[in-house]
Amino acid sequence: MADLSTSYLGLKLRNPIIIASGPKTGNIESLKKCEQNGAGAVVLKSIFEEQIETEVGKQLVEHSEYLEHSDFSEYFENVSKDYYLEKYLQLLKDAKRELSIPVIASINCSDLSTWEDYISSFEKAGADAIELNYYPIAQDKKVSGESVDKALFKFAKRMRKSTTLPVSIKLGDNYSSIANIISELDKIGINGLVLFNRFFRPDINIETETMTHLGGISSFNEYASTLRWIALMSAEVKCSLAANRGIHDANTVIKMLLAGAAACQICTIYLKDESIVKTMCDELNAWMEKKNYKSISDFQGKMAQENIANGSAWERTQYMKTLIGGDK
Ligand SMILES: Cc1cc2nc3c(=O)[nH]c(=O)nc-3n(C[C@H](O)[C@H](O)[C@H](O)COP(=O)(O)O)c2cc1C
Repeated sequence: MADLSTSYLGLKLRNPIIIASGPKTGNIESLKKCEQNGAGAVVLKSIFEEQIETEVGKQLVEHSEYLEHSDFSEYFENVSKDYYLEKYLQLLKDAKRELSIPVIASINCSDLSTWEDYISSFEKAGADAIELNYYPIAQDKKVSGESVDKALFKFAKRMRKSTTLPVSIKLGDNYSSIANIISELDKIGINGLVLFNRFFRPDINIETETMTHLGGISSFNEYASTLRWIALMSAEVKCSLAANRGIHDANTVIKMLLAGAAACQICTIYLKDESIVKTMCDELNAWMEKKNYKSISDFQGKMAQENIANGSAWERTQYMKTLIGGDK
C-alpha cells in the first residue's frame, strides 16, 4: 500500500481528499459519515453573515409588534446573531470532539470586524484552520479591477494577522490576473488557496419571466481552469493549493496532484455517492503502485509548468491549430 498522506496548510492529512464546504458538512451526522467514508479532512459548511442578517431581519419583521422600542430591537438583533454563531460554534466543537481528521471552519462575512470576531471564536472553539470566502461583486462601474485586487490584499493582510491558525482563501477565477492574485496572497503569508469556487449562477425563466438559477452541481470536465492554474502556479508559491471544481474521479485527483495540488476538495460527486472517497483512494493507490510511487511527494508537481520541457503549453488559450490537426 502506497503512502497517500499529504500536507495541506501545514496539517497532515491521511489522504488528499477533502470534503468541500457544503450540504454534507453542515451537521455532525454527515460529518461523521465523511470521516467513515475515508475523507482526509472536512471544511464545515460556511457561516454566511448575509444569511444570518436575512434570518434576523425576517424575525424582526415577524416580531415587530413586540419590538417597537429601538433599544430592545437592537438587543434582539444582537442576541439573534449570537444564536446563529453559537449554533455554528457548537457544530465545530462537536466535530472536533467526534472526528479525528482535521476540521476547517469556513466563513463568508461582509464586515471586516465581523470576520475577525468569527475567526477568533473559531480559534477558541478548536478549528484546525480557517477557510475564507471573500467575493466582492464589482458591479460598480467606477470601481477598477486594481482597486478590487487591493481590497483583497488588504483584507488578506488583516485576516492573516488576526489568528495564529492556518488560513486559506477560496478564490474565484474571475480576476484579471490570477497569477498576480495567487502570488501576492502567498507573499502576505496566506497558508493555502482553494482554486476555484463555483459560484451561484443566476438565470431567467422565460415562461414566468422571473429570476431563477442554474443549480449548484458541477459536471465532469469542469476542472480544466483549476488544472491549468495549479500547474502554472504550484511551483511558484510556498502556500498549499487545494484543487476544487469538477473533480469527480480518481483520474482527476491524480491530474491535480501531478499539476502540484496538495489536496482536492470535492462536493458534487460526494453529494451523489458518499463511497466515492474510498474508490478515489483505492484507485489513487493502484495507480501509484503501478507507477512505483511510494508517496504523494514522489510525483506531486511533476507536471507543473516549471517541471516539464514544454511548460508553455499550460499557457495556451487558442486551440484552432489543434482542431485542424496541425498542432498537438
Ligand atoms: C448545495 C451546495 C452548497 C454549497 N455551500 C457552500 C458553502 O457554504 N461554502 C462554500 O465555500 N462553498 C459551498 N459550496 C461550493 C462547494 O464547496 C464547491 O466549491 C463547489 O461545489 C465546487 O466543487 P464540486 O465541483 O466538487 O461541486 C456549495 C456547493 C453546493 C452544491
